[in-house]
Amino acid sequence: MREMEMKGNPWDSNAITREYFDSLLLEMRHIDAVIPSTKLELYGETFDTPIMMAALSHLNNVYENGMVEMAKGALAANAVNWAGMGDEAEIAAITATGARTINIIKPYADNDYIFKRIEYAERCGVIAVGMDVDHSFGGNGLYDVVLGDKMKPKTLMELKEFIKSTKLPFIIKGVLSEQDAYKALEAGAKGIVVSHHHGIMNYAVPPLYTLPKIAKVINRQIPIFVDCGVMSGMDVFKALALGADAVSAGRVIMEPLKKNGAMGVRDQIIKMTEELAGVMARTCSQDLNHIDSAVIYQRNGW
Ligand SMILES: Cc1cc2nc3c(=O)[nH]c(=O)nc-3n(C[C@H](O)[C@H](O)[C@H](O)COP(=O)(O)O)c2cc1C
Repeated sequence: MREMEMKGNPWDSNAITREYFDSLLLEMRHIDAVIPSTKLELYGETFDTPIMMAALSHLNNVYENGMVEMAKGALAANAVNWAGMGDEAEIAAITATGARTINIIKPYADNDYIFKRIEYAERCGVIAVGMDVDHSFGGNGLYDVVLGDKMKPKTLMELKEFIKSTKLPFIIKGVLSEQDAYKALEAGAKGIVVSHHHGIMNYAVPPLYTLPKIAKVINRQIPIFVDCGVMSGMDVFKALALGADAVSAGRVIMEPLKKNGAMGVRDQIIKMTEELAGVMARTCSQDLNHIDSAVIYQRNGW
Protein backbone atom coordinates (compact mmCIF):
# COMPACT_ATOMS: atom_id res chain seq x y z
CA MET A 1 0.00 0.00 0.00
CA ARG A 2 1.28 3.46 -0.93
CA GLU A 3 1.46 5.56 2.23
CA MET A 4 1.49 8.92 0.46
CA GLU A 5 -1.53 10.43 -1.21
CA MET A 6 -1.00 11.81 -4.73
CA LYS A 7 -1.54 15.56 -4.77
CA GLY A 8 -2.59 15.60 -8.42
CA ASN A 9 -3.70 13.35 -11.26
CA PRO A 10 -1.96 9.95 -11.15
CA TRP A 11 -0.74 10.32 -14.75
CA ASP A 12 0.57 13.88 -14.36
CA SER A 13 4.37 13.78 -14.50
CA ASN A 14 4.64 17.03 -12.55
CA ALA A 15 2.51 15.62 -9.71
CA ILE A 16 4.46 12.35 -9.72
CA THR A 17 7.73 14.32 -9.63
CA ARG A 18 6.52 16.39 -6.67
CA GLU A 19 5.48 13.25 -4.86
CA TYR A 20 8.93 11.76 -5.42
CA PHE A 21 10.73 14.85 -4.07
CA ASP A 22 8.55 14.63 -0.96
CA SER A 23 9.22 10.91 -0.55
CA LEU A 24 12.91 11.60 0.11
CA LEU A 25 13.93 12.14 3.74
CA LEU A 26 17.26 13.28 5.13
CA GLU A 27 19.38 12.20 8.07
CA MET A 28 21.30 14.87 10.00
CA ARG A 29 25.01 15.03 10.81
CA HIS A 30 26.18 17.71 13.23
CA ILE A 31 29.61 16.71 14.54
CA ASP A 32 32.51 18.32 12.62
CA ALA A 33 30.03 20.38 10.57
CA VAL A 34 31.17 23.75 9.12
CA ILE A 35 29.59 26.74 7.40
CA PRO A 36 29.08 25.36 3.90
CA SER A 37 30.09 26.86 0.57
CA THR A 38 27.47 26.87 -2.19
CA LYS A 39 29.97 28.01 -4.85
CA LEU A 40 29.63 26.33 -8.23
CA GLU A 41 32.56 25.89 -10.63
CA LEU A 42 31.23 25.47 -14.14
CA TYR A 43 33.02 25.67 -17.50
CA GLY A 44 35.91 27.57 -15.96
CA GLU A 45 33.79 30.14 -14.12
CA THR A 46 32.68 30.47 -10.51
CA PHE A 47 29.11 31.17 -9.40
CA ASP A 48 27.62 31.73 -5.93
CA THR A 49 24.98 29.04 -6.25
CA PRO A 50 24.20 25.78 -8.04
CA ILE A 51 20.67 27.11 -8.66
CA MET A 52 20.40 28.27 -12.25
CA MET A 53 17.59 29.76 -14.30
CA ALA A 54 15.77 27.15 -16.39
CA ALA A 55 15.86 27.48 -20.17
CA LEU A 56 12.64 29.49 -20.31
CA SER A 57 11.19 31.50 -23.18
CA HIS A 58 8.37 33.88 -24.07
CA LEU A 59 8.21 35.61 -20.70
CA ASN A 60 6.83 38.89 -22.04
CA ASN A 61 3.39 37.95 -20.77
CA VAL A 62 4.87 37.43 -17.29
CA TYR A 63 6.88 40.69 -17.14
CA GLU A 64 7.86 43.28 -19.72
CA ASN A 65 11.08 42.06 -21.35
CA GLY A 66 10.83 39.04 -19.06
CA MET A 67 13.79 37.11 -20.47
CA VAL A 68 16.08 40.12 -20.04
CA GLU A 69 14.76 40.76 -16.52
CA MET A 70 15.40 37.14 -15.62
CA ALA A 71 18.96 37.47 -16.92
CA LYS A 72 19.49 40.60 -14.78
CA GLY A 73 18.19 38.71 -11.75
CA ALA A 74 20.55 35.80 -12.39
CA LEU A 75 23.47 38.20 -12.77
CA ALA A 76 22.58 39.98 -9.52
CA ALA A 77 22.59 36.60 -7.71
CA ASN A 78 25.78 35.52 -9.53
CA ALA A 79 23.89 32.51 -10.88
CA VAL A 80 24.01 30.86 -14.29
CA ASN A 81 21.31 32.08 -16.65
CA TRP A 82 19.73 29.88 -19.31
CA ALA A 83 17.67 30.96 -22.32
CA GLY A 84 15.39 28.81 -24.46
CA MET A 85 13.55 29.53 -27.70
CA GLY A 86 13.67 33.13 -28.92
CA ASP A 87 14.96 35.15 -31.83
CA GLU A 88 18.52 36.43 -32.32
CA ALA A 89 17.67 39.92 -31.06
CA GLU A 90 16.46 38.42 -27.80
CA ILE A 91 19.58 36.34 -27.15
CA ALA A 92 21.66 39.44 -27.97
CA ALA A 93 19.66 41.49 -25.42
CA ILE A 94 19.95 38.75 -22.79
CA THR A 95 23.73 38.40 -23.13
CA ALA A 96 24.16 42.19 -23.24
CA THR A 97 23.08 42.26 -19.58
CA GLY A 98 26.35 40.53 -18.71
CA ALA A 99 24.54 37.44 -17.35
CA ARG A 100 26.55 34.29 -17.99
CA THR A 101 24.10 32.52 -20.24
CA ILE A 102 23.56 29.05 -21.71
CA ASN A 103 21.45 29.07 -24.88
CA ILE A 104 19.26 26.02 -25.55
CA ILE A 105 18.37 25.82 -29.22
CA LYS A 106 15.29 23.88 -30.37
CA PRO A 107 15.61 20.72 -32.49
CA TYR A 108 14.50 22.60 -35.60
CA ALA A 109 13.90 20.43 -38.67
CA ASP A 110 16.22 22.78 -40.56
CA ASN A 111 19.75 21.87 -39.48
CA ASP A 112 21.28 24.84 -41.31
CA TYR A 113 19.24 27.11 -39.07
CA ILE A 114 20.58 25.25 -36.01
CA PHE A 115 24.19 25.77 -37.14
CA LYS A 116 23.41 29.45 -37.71
CA ARG A 117 21.91 29.81 -34.22
CA ILE A 118 24.87 28.04 -32.60
CA GLU A 119 27.25 30.41 -34.35
CA TYR A 120 25.15 33.44 -33.40
CA ALA A 121 25.00 32.40 -29.75
CA GLU A 122 28.77 31.95 -29.80
CA ARG A 123 29.20 35.49 -31.16
CA CYS A 124 26.95 36.82 -28.36
CA GLY A 125 29.35 35.38 -25.80
CA VAL A 126 27.25 32.63 -24.25
CA ILE A 127 29.12 30.17 -22.03
CA ALA A 128 27.52 27.08 -23.59
CA VAL A 129 24.90 26.06 -26.10
CA GLY A 130 22.66 23.04 -26.22
CA MET A 131 19.48 21.46 -27.52
CA ASP A 132 16.25 20.28 -25.88
CA VAL A 133 16.13 16.98 -27.75
CA ASP A 134 12.89 16.08 -25.93
CA HIS A 135 10.90 18.65 -27.90
CA SER A 136 10.94 17.05 -31.35
CA PHE A 137 7.66 15.12 -31.23
CA GLY A 138 4.14 16.15 -30.40
CA GLY A 139 1.97 13.85 -28.28
CA ASN A 140 0.48 12.35 -31.48
CA GLY A 141 3.72 10.70 -32.67
CA LEU A 142 4.25 13.30 -35.41
CA TYR A 143 7.01 15.90 -35.56
CA ASP A 144 6.17 18.86 -33.36
CA VAL A 145 5.54 22.34 -34.68
CA VAL A 146 6.42 25.01 -32.12
CA LEU A 147 4.98 28.45 -32.83
CA GLY A 148 5.02 27.67 -36.55
CA ASP A 149 8.56 26.21 -36.56
CA LYS A 150 8.93 22.56 -37.59
CA MET A 151 10.92 20.28 -35.26
CA LYS A 152 12.59 16.92 -35.99
CA PRO A 153 14.33 14.37 -33.77
CA LYS A 154 18.11 14.32 -34.12
CA THR A 155 20.28 11.28 -34.72
CA LEU A 156 23.52 10.64 -32.88
CA MET A 157 25.37 11.59 -36.10
CA GLU A 158 23.55 14.92 -36.34
CA LEU A 159 24.28 15.72 -32.70
CA LYS A 160 27.96 14.98 -33.31
CA GLU A 161 27.93 17.49 -36.18
CA PHE A 162 26.37 20.22 -34.03
CA ILE A 163 28.87 19.54 -31.27
CA LYS A 164 31.80 19.55 -33.70
CA SER A 165 30.67 22.89 -35.14
CA THR A 166 31.35 24.87 -31.95
CA LYS A 167 34.17 25.39 -29.51
CA LEU A 168 31.61 25.97 -26.76
CA PRO A 169 30.43 23.22 -24.43
CA PHE A 170 27.29 21.64 -25.91
CA ILE A 171 24.55 20.44 -23.53
CA ILE A 172 21.89 17.86 -24.30
CA LYS A 173 18.69 18.77 -22.48
CA GLY A 174 15.99 16.18 -21.92
CA VAL A 175 17.93 13.05 -20.95
CA LEU A 176 15.74 10.70 -18.92
CA SER A 177 17.32 7.31 -19.60
CA GLU A 178 20.66 5.54 -19.38
CA GLN A 179 20.47 4.94 -23.14
CA ASP A 180 20.40 8.66 -23.93
CA ALA A 181 23.10 9.30 -21.32
CA TYR A 182 25.42 6.86 -23.15
CA LYS A 183 24.56 8.51 -26.47
CA ALA A 184 25.15 12.01 -25.06
CA LEU A 185 28.64 10.93 -23.99
CA GLU A 186 29.29 9.32 -27.35
CA ALA A 187 28.12 12.45 -29.14
CA GLY A 188 30.68 14.50 -27.20
CA ALA A 189 28.23 16.50 -25.09
CA LYS A 190 29.77 18.56 -22.30
CA GLY A 191 26.71 18.42 -20.09
CA ILE A 192 23.22 16.90 -19.85
CA VAL A 193 19.97 18.08 -18.32
CA VAL A 194 17.99 15.28 -16.70
CA SER A 195 14.45 16.47 -17.34
CA HIS A 196 10.99 15.57 -18.59
CA HIS A 197 10.41 19.14 -19.81
CA HIS A 198 7.76 19.92 -17.18
CA GLY A 199 5.70 16.87 -18.02
CA ILE A 200 5.93 16.76 -21.82
CA MET A 201 4.70 13.16 -21.51
CA ASN A 202 2.41 11.59 -18.89
CA TYR A 203 3.83 9.01 -16.48
CA ALA A 204 7.39 10.26 -17.06
CA VAL A 205 9.77 8.97 -14.41
CA PRO A 206 10.80 11.74 -11.96
CA PRO A 207 14.28 13.04 -12.87
CA LEU A 208 15.57 12.32 -9.33
CA TYR A 209 14.32 8.73 -9.52
CA THR A 210 16.43 7.96 -12.58
CA LEU A 211 19.29 10.33 -11.68
CA PRO A 212 21.48 7.85 -9.75
CA LYS A 213 21.44 5.41 -12.69
CA ILE A 214 22.27 8.19 -15.14
CA ALA A 215 25.00 9.53 -12.85
CA LYS A 216 26.59 6.09 -12.85
CA VAL A 217 26.71 6.13 -16.66
CA ILE A 218 28.11 9.66 -16.78
CA ASN A 219 30.64 8.77 -14.07
CA ARG A 220 31.67 12.41 -13.47
CA GLN A 221 32.92 12.83 -17.06
CA ILE A 222 30.62 15.82 -17.70
CA PRO A 223 28.33 17.95 -15.50
CA ILE A 224 24.80 16.74 -14.83
CA PHE A 225 22.03 19.30 -14.46
CA VAL A 226 18.49 18.54 -13.32
CA ASP A 227 15.24 20.40 -13.71
CA CYS A 228 11.48 19.84 -13.29
CA GLY A 229 9.65 20.83 -10.16
CA VAL A 230 12.57 22.23 -8.16
CA MET A 231 10.74 24.49 -5.68
CA SER A 232 13.08 24.95 -2.72
CA GLY A 233 16.60 24.60 -1.38
CA MET A 234 15.55 21.23 0.05
CA ASP A 235 14.73 20.01 -3.47
CA VAL A 236 18.07 21.34 -4.71
CA PHE A 237 19.92 19.50 -1.96
CA LYS A 238 18.20 16.20 -2.83
CA ALA A 239 19.13 16.60 -6.51
CA LEU A 240 22.76 17.34 -5.63
CA ALA A 241 22.93 14.42 -3.21
CA LEU A 242 21.66 12.03 -5.87
CA GLY A 243 24.23 13.05 -8.47
CA ALA A 244 23.46 16.46 -9.96
CA ASP A 245 26.15 19.16 -10.22
CA ALA A 246 23.57 21.94 -10.45
CA VAL A 247 19.85 22.42 -10.96
CA SER A 248 17.62 24.69 -13.01
CA ALA A 249 14.58 26.43 -11.59
CA GLY A 250 11.84 27.54 -13.96
CA ARG A 251 8.29 27.91 -12.75
CA VAL A 252 9.32 28.72 -9.16
CA ILE A 253 10.91 31.95 -10.32
CA MET A 254 8.03 33.03 -12.54
CA GLU A 255 5.84 34.39 -9.73
CA PRO A 256 8.68 36.46 -8.20
CA LEU A 257 9.53 37.69 -11.72
CA LYS A 258 5.92 38.73 -12.23
CA LYS A 259 5.84 40.61 -8.91
CA ASN A 260 9.27 42.23 -8.81
CA GLY A 261 11.10 41.71 -12.10
CA ALA A 262 14.86 41.13 -11.85
CA MET A 263 14.95 41.77 -8.10
CA GLY A 264 12.22 39.19 -7.56
CA VAL A 265 14.31 36.64 -9.46
CA ARG A 266 17.44 37.55 -7.53
CA ASP A 267 15.67 37.31 -4.16
CA GLN A 268 14.14 33.94 -5.02
CA ILE A 269 17.53 32.45 -5.97
CA ILE A 270 19.12 33.84 -2.82
CA LYS A 271 16.28 32.51 -0.65
CA MET A 272 16.58 29.01 -2.13
CA THR A 273 20.38 29.12 -1.89
CA GLU A 274 20.16 30.03 1.80
CA GLU A 275 17.81 27.13 2.37
CA LEU A 276 20.23 24.83 0.54
CA ALA A 277 23.08 26.10 2.75
CA GLY A 278 20.94 25.41 5.83
CA VAL A 279 20.51 21.75 4.84
CA MET A 280 24.17 21.44 3.84
CA ALA A 281 25.20 22.71 7.26
CA ARG A 282 22.98 20.19 9.05
CA THR A 283 24.20 17.27 6.95
CA CYS A 284 27.92 18.05 7.34
CA SER A 285 28.19 18.87 3.61
CA GLN A 286 31.05 21.37 3.44
CA ASP A 287 30.66 22.19 -0.26
CA LEU A 288 28.90 20.99 -3.40
CA ASN A 289 31.49 18.27 -3.93
CA HIS A 290 30.94 16.85 -0.45
CA ILE A 291 27.28 15.89 -0.34
CA ASP A 292 26.91 12.25 0.62
CA SER A 293 24.06 10.40 -1.09
CA ALA A 294 23.80 8.20 2.03
CA VAL A 295 22.00 11.07 3.84
CA ILE A 296 18.94 10.34 1.68
CA TYR A 297 16.26 7.95 2.94
CA GLN A 298 13.31 6.66 1.00
CA ARG A 299 9.83 6.91 2.50
CA ASN A 300 7.75 3.79 1.90
CA GLY A 301 5.98 3.32 -1.37
CA TRP A 302 8.61 4.12 -4.01
C1 LIG B 1 7.22 29.39 -19.95
C2 LIG B 1 8.20 28.29 -20.21
C3 LIG B 1 8.95 28.32 -21.39
C4 LIG B 1 9.87 27.30 -21.65
N1 LIG B 1 10.62 27.35 -22.80
C5 LIG B 1 11.58 26.42 -23.01
C6 LIG B 1 12.43 26.50 -24.15
O1 LIG B 1 12.30 27.37 -25.00
N2 LIG B 1 13.42 25.57 -24.27
C7 LIG B 1 13.59 24.57 -23.36
O2 LIG B 1 14.51 23.75 -23.50
N3 LIG B 1 12.78 24.46 -22.27
C8 LIG B 1 11.80 25.36 -22.09
N4 LIG B 1 11.00 25.27 -20.97
C9 LIG B 1 11.21 24.15 -20.04
C10 LIG B 1 12.15 24.50 -18.91
O3 LIG B 1 13.45 24.75 -19.35
C11 LIG B 1 12.22 23.37 -17.88
O4 LIG B 1 12.72 22.20 -18.48
C12 LIG B 1 10.88 23.05 -17.24
O5 LIG B 1 10.08 24.18 -17.07
C13 LIG B 1 11.05 22.30 -15.92
O6 LIG B 1 11.50 23.12 -14.90
P1 LIG B 1 10.49 23.76 -13.80
O7 LIG B 1 9.62 22.67 -13.32
O8 LIG B 1 11.41 24.33 -12.78
O9 LIG B 1 9.71 24.82 -14.52
C14 LIG B 1 10.05 26.25 -20.73
C15 LIG B 1 9.28 26.23 -19.54
C16 LIG B 1 8.36 27.22 -19.28
C17 LIG B 1 7.57 27.17 -18.01
